[in-house]
Amino acid sequence: MYVCLCFGVTDREIRQAADNGVSSMRQLGKELGVGRQCGRCACMAREILRESRTPD
Ligand code: FES
Repeated sequence: MYVCLCFGVTDREIRQAADNGVSSMRQLGKELGVGRQCGRCACMAREILRESRTPD
């Protein structure tokens, strides 16, 4: 599913980035562009990042 339409970033890519050590929206923006244009994806991207960071 696409999370960030401006940069064509999917939830999978965000999870992958989290696996590779991305832990903040700032980092995610740097890596994938997420949230750097219209910002509409920020809320969901943050949620996915948070979920993939909690190892349980
Ligand atoms: Fe991500 Fe616009 S949808 S910056």
